[in-house]
Amino acid sequence: MNTPTNNTPRITIFDTTLRDGEQSPGCSMTPPQKLVMARALAELGVDVIETGFPASSQSDREAMALIGREVRQPVLAVLSRCLAGDIETSVKALEAAARPRLHVFLSTSPLHREHKLRMSKEQVLESVHKHVSMARGYLDDIEFSAEDATRTELDFLTEITQVAIAAGARTINLPDTVGFTTPEEIRAMFQHVIGNAAGADKVIFSTHCHNDLGLAVANSLAAIEGGARQVEGSINGIGERAGNCALEEIAMVLKVRNAFYNFDTGFDTQRIVPTSQLLQRLVGMPVQRNKAIVGANAFAHESGIHQHGMLRNRNTYEIMRPEDVGWESSQMVLGRHSGRAAVEARLRALGYWLEEEELKLVFEQFKALCEQQRVVTDADLQTLMQGTSSSD
Ligand code: KIV
Ligand code: ZN
Repeated sequence: MNTPTNNTPRITIFDTTLRDGEQSPGCSMTPPQKLVMARALAELGVDVIETGFPASSQSDREAMALIGREVRQPVLAVLSRCLAGDIETSVKALEAAARPRLHVFLSTSPLHREHKLRMSKEQVLESVHKHVSMARGYLDDIEFSAEDATRTELDFLTEITQVAIAAGARTINLPDTVGFTTPEEIRAMFQHVIGNAAGADKVIFSTHCHNDLGLAVANSLAAIEGGARQVEGSINGIGERAGNCALEEIAMVLKVRNAFYNFDTGFDTQRIVPTSQLLQRLVGMPVQRNKAIVGANAFAHESGIHQHGMLRNRNTYEIMRPEDVGWESSQMVLGRHSGRAAVEARLRALGYWLEEEELKLVFEQFKALCEQQRVVTDADLQTLMQGTSSSD
């Protein structure tokens, strides 16, 4: 694996598990639960934590105040519509934060302008100018998001970006709100806006991808190639509908494929699995077994050919070490697809060193057992050994 050097440039990781993630059906969290999660996120090494949407609920206002008092290292952000009342509520909620960020958003796409906002392009531009300026009057660290950016006319998106920068935004987020874009398209979108918006060199561009077509991580990486330097997402990829970009996947792509991307994150990657499991427990939503990095099968091997390869050299079938993301070890699952080498290795780990003939016999019994059950455990192997006269 390529280990990033200290000189590797950083991608800022903006975690929205507690805001967009929490908007996932069935994933709401109480303020104390959000605090526990925020502490874990800070230990994991995220740069920005979006704690909620204060204008939407008392619970989000309380959560922000609680986290603001206790979590001092990362930047703490809250979401706000382009409404004076929202901005005032958000600024008040951020009072306790050591490093506050106000995240203001407005839809920009034709569909949203016509059907959701009922606003013309001119009205959208005016609102962005007015509300970003107002936000900047309260705080220095302002992020502006052009909701549904990937379905917005490129020239208008460039104009909106210019207006938000001129009004004082320091970060410009161009979200793929409905998970509609493709890697090629989002790369070109960032290149176009960054290449054409006045003042683009003075701000950080951010990507925020949803996973409706299963492309959130791929699109976020393409956005980095197009010039984005902040990635927004959530742990386990939780979020509206099919979710947000899974941050544990982004962190590991940038680590494992560092020679290609040449970007680092601030993640202490060994904290990934504990953080993922904490979230699963808090919101009661387990990840699927084959989920990349944090799923139970992510480092499990059952087939004979793979297990044989792994026993000789783990790089044959593992591109990263399970210990590096917080698992204890790889798992050799014994089942119908396993071969003799894996069974022998497991028996040796349990203290049984068998002669060739004995191993042949036990392996036949093992295969017979696999016809009755999917997985053969250590306890099953021990029972098998007790039943054979030649054990030990
Ligand atoms: O998906 C989206 O567009 C959002 C914005 C509010 C940033 O979550
Ligand atoms: Zn979103």
